Amino acid sequence: MKRIPLIKPFITGDVKDKVGEVLDSGYLTEGPVTREFEKEFERYTGCCRALAMTSCTTGLEVALRAVGVGQGDEVIIPDYTYPATGHVVGLVGARAVIVDVSRESMLIEYDQIEEAIGRRTKAILPVSLFGNPLDYQRLSEIRDKYGVHVIEDAACSIGAEFRGTKVGNLADISVFSLHPRKFITTGEGGMVTTNNAGWADWMLSYKHFGMGVHDSRLTASFEQPGTNYKLSDILAAVGLVQMKHIDDLLSKRCLLARRYVEYLQDNPQVIIPETTPQGVHSYQSFCLFVENRNQIMQELRAQGIEAQIGTYSLHMHKAFKNNPNCKIVGDMVGSRYAYDHCMALPLYHDLTADDQEYVVDTLSRCLL
Ligand SMILES: Cc1ncc(COP(=O)(O)O)c(C=O)c1O
Repeated sequence: MKRIPLIKPFITGDVKDKVGEVLDSGYLTEGPVTREFEKEFERYTGCCRALAMTSCTTGLEVALRAVGVGQGDEVIIPDYTYPATGHVVGLVGARAVIVDVSRESMLIEYDQIEEAIGRRTKAILPVSLFGNPLDYQRLSEIRDKYGVHVIEDAACSIGAEFRGTKVGNLADISVFSLHPRKFITTGEGGMVTTNNAGWADWMLSYKHFGMGVHDSRLTASFEQPGTNYKLSDILAAVGLVQMKHIDDLLSKRCLLARRYVEYLQDNPQVIIPETTPQGVHSYQSFCLFVENRNQIMQELRAQGIEAQIGTYSLHMHKAFKNNPNCKIVGDMVGSRYAYDHCMALPLYHDLTADDQEYVVDTLSRCLL
């Protein structure tokens, strides 16, 4: 039987060579290779400053702290997301206000953000889920109207665009994940991007034990409380080499996604989620909606195809429901629909046309 995984990391000879180089150099902590990796993110996204972190989760926490979110503040987040989006709000002592997502796109409902904004709202934390960019025009209007910060959970969306600008250069701060489900992966890791030099310096200091920063460089003094969220050069080496291949990786993903759409769009049992108008999806995951999702997923797995649920509805989980530090707003119909119906299909750089046809044929049979 065929075995088709959900994802496959891009680990080639040049990735292994670069890791070997770092190991031979003896410089194993965060250093010149991580710097180069950050520069590559700046070049690619067009943002002024990129800072490597140990994960997207730690990056989001640092980003919230950088804009001053803390005790007594509220942060608006979408219900349909990976739980890390909600956890980080509690970690900095603030209250998560959880609103619904669009049933069509699974992205945060912009009208509901406006309804949920109150005098304690300090930031909104929308998610460009699965590589689908947000409507940053709408988010900027909300930011300007209410004076809140837009911190983007861009865990899944390296390579996505809105009106010709890359994600990472569209929100006040964007935070990417480098977990192996993402196509640029360092095993564990994250990257924060911003055009605000003050926040970037603050984050640089915080992730380096609170060291002083002068001219965007660390000084040998300790100026504020801080922690250690540095990314080792060993891990950065993997991401740096992958970044050199990003255009090729991305065009392969988009081609495969387009083929999935062509194969499946006329199947009345399948609904393809909407991409944000004027946006370019980077397809970290290729997702669709089907009835009886769990059963279909089991049948696909029995045929060697590793299908997966999309992500989670926070309000259904103990960490968020009945939590006095979380406020759940609305009926969550969009989020519940996604939680019950969304399914991700295998998508990776060298998924062959034969294997993709096998996925689609097997799925079509399961749906009969
Ligand atoms: C939307 C979203 N936010 C945050 C995270 C957490 O990322 P990390 O594992 O890098 O902390 C993930 C991980 O999959 C995610 O999908």
